[in-house]
Amino acid sequence: MKSSSPVIVALDFPSEKETMQLVEQLEPSLCRLKVGKELFTRCGPALVRQLVDKNFDVFLDLKYHDIPNTVARACAAAADLGVWMLNVHALGGEKMMSAAKQALSTNNGKTPLLIAVTWLTSSGQSELDALGVKSTPQDMVSRLATMTQDAGLDGVVCSAQEAQILRQSMGDDFLLVTPGIRPADAGKDDQCRVVTPERAMQDGASYLVIGRPITQANDPCKVLQSIVATLNT
Ligand code: C5P
Repeated sequence: MKSSSPVIVALDFPSEKETMQLVEQLEPSLCRLKVGKELFTRCGPALVRQLVDKNFDVFLDLKYHDIPNTVARACAAAADLGVWMLNVHALGGEKMMSAAKQALSTNNGKTPLLIAVTWLTSSGQSELDALGVKSTPQDMVSRLATMTQDAGLDGVVCSAQEAQILRQSMGDDFLLVTPGIRPADAGKDDQCRVVTPERAMQDGASYLVIGRPITQANDPCKVLQSIVATLNT
């Protein structure tokens, strides 16, 4: 059965072996999977296909940012892998994002969801100042989210702490995909500002990206099931 779960498990592993050891314990009905730069660079498209063939919805988190033609062609190539969702950097601009969207909708076969990263949560005011940009991180996030919507994309990746404001300003149909999620009883790892799964969903998140609380657990499936259960009550 395909997923209706809002949980996306971040597969931040350096090898196929470790990835598949975890994936064998998970169910497509309980979660979707995120493949990022490390895993993709090590294991490539073959691993993505393997996950898709196991019936998982795969979010290919490669955050494309280049000239419009190059990004459009990369997005079409990702769609050919059968991924469910992929992303670009909103800082690439509206023309780049529109070209990406256009390439997906004219590609034969299923059209993946396309979302954008706004202002990275690892960058703050000092990075904007260094660029000479007269804005606050919050204004930057709002501006880039609006540009993303204007370009016809499906949503953005954002901090769970930005979800409430973005949900109000961007409307109900815009996807908000939020990392930095920690169940109340989990450690924070290197995340600074964390939000519980329930709170993120209440604040308007559409999907929750969760890595280490699940991937490093003694019983990953049990932790996943308990997170999903808290969201269904
Ligand atoms: O293990 P953890 O739950 O912290 O993993 C979060 C995932 O979300 C990682 O893959 C990380 O790269 C990603 N992410 C993030 N913060 C962002 C964007 C992406 O933690 N602002």
